[in-house]
Amino acid sequence: MALRVSVIGSGYLGTTHAAGMAEAGWEVLGVDIDEAKVAALARGELPFYEPGLGDLVRKHVAGGRLRFTTSFEECGSFGDVHFLCVGTPQRPGELGADLGQLRFAVESLAPHLRRQCVVVGKSTVPVGTAERLAAMLATTAPADGDVELAWNPEFLREGHAVEDTLRPDRIVIGVQSEIAEKVLRELYVRQLRAGVPLVVTDLPTAELVKVAANAFLATKISFINMMADLCEATGGDVTALADALGRDDRIGERFLHAGLGFGGGCLPKDIRALAARADELGVPHAATLLREVDRINLGRRTRMVQLAVEACGGNILGKRVGVLGTAFKPRSDDVRDSPALNVAAQLQLIGAHVRVYDPVARSTAESQYPTLEYVSSAVEAAADADLLLHLTEWQEFLDLDPCDLDGVVARKYILDGRNALDAERWRVAGWNYRALGRP
Ligand code: UDX
Repeated sequence: MALRVSVIGSGYLGTTHAAGMAEAGWEVLGVDIDEAKVAALARGELPFYEPGLGDLVRKHVAGGRLRFTTSFEECGSFGDVHFLCVGTPQRPGELGADLGQLRFAVESLAPHLRRQCVVVGKSTVPVGTAERLAAMLATTAPADGDVELAWNPEFLREGHAVEDTLRPDRIVIGVQSEIAEKVLRELYVRQLRAGVPLVVTDLPTAELVKVAANAFLATKISFINMMADLCEATGGDVTALADALGRDDRIGERFLHAGLGFGGGCLPKDIRALAARADELGVPHAATLLREVDRINLGRRTRMVQLAVEACGGNILGKRVGVLGTAFKPRSDDVRDSPALNVAAQLQLIGAHVRVYDPVARSTAESQYPTLEYVSSAVEAAADADLLLHLTEWQEFLDLDPCDLDGVVARKYILDGRNALDAERWRVAGWNYRALGRP
């Protein structure tokens, strides 16, 4: 069966999924309301940074298997399967998710669904959303009974989006009928043949899996950061502690990296939305746990600022601070809720002169905090600095030879917000090295 696939929303998730579906051999139509974005994608240009994705998009645009449009009418008549991949950001001034883009997508698509098809949600949503969207489709799509809704959460990480899409750890599908299950099994046949596990479930479980995964990862990070606080209070070393903990297979070493904590477009907003939904559902202890995870995480940024002030003898006013990294993590130009950028901005607000460098997240950071001074290399960021801060663990910073900064900085003092630099190497080079959760 040669299924035709439409992917609504050409942001991070949608573009990656559209390219992945084309790579799997399907004919794909990407849909977005932003004309400039659609035109750029049609030329094979990505509106954001993601290693390997540009090549994949260009390959399938050139081969004709991947096209982009702004027309929902075209989308409706084209697709046998329609994936909903629009954003569900945090609502301004609230903790819950803003479902406006999702509602708009379904309202725009539904009138054009005139034949049998499956609409598949991929966006991260509060549990219960799928059921409401299914009801909306049933009343507004002309093909009503022939339109199925399914849920297929996406677990891709920024910076590794292509590999996560082509070779996921698992595929989860929430379905209401065998028809939808059959169609989704067909779409993912390559991955399933390659041995990727498939979990077939109902709609609410599929919606919950995604937020549960992100809440668990966030909790794991906040757990180790809480231990970092205990290490600081007792003279312990959180990196050795995490190493010892992680060797227990039941715990595992990943996501046990203590430091500035988590940021980005997913973990922070997903735990907040889950907490808000848990409150609505009358499960307050779930919300309490998640709020504490959030609180510990945000506390890392404050602690980093405190350490910077301490490192400057209690007063940072007028001091020069060099910042390495603005992205929320390496291999990404995303600065949404970025701990690194947040710390840089806080230091500026309390009077430091902050000069920042990031290998790719300069323009995204500049548009959010235009008043910081942006430079084009680590050495420039370090020039005359009284204090250097390592806030995003780009490989370039891990490879940095501290001796190259001799005569560049005013004072050899570095704070490692990511516990990722080789402390011994910096100390041997005459630096005062400090990190969160270490003596
Ligand atoms: C996350 C989920 O991992 C992914 O499955 C989901 O689809 C989207 O959300 P992403 O936002 O790309 O992916 O980032 P991730 O790699 O999870 O890192 C999130 C944040 O946690 C980053 O700021 C990172 O620096 C931080 N982190 C990660 C830690 O502080 N310590 C760790 O041990 C791991």
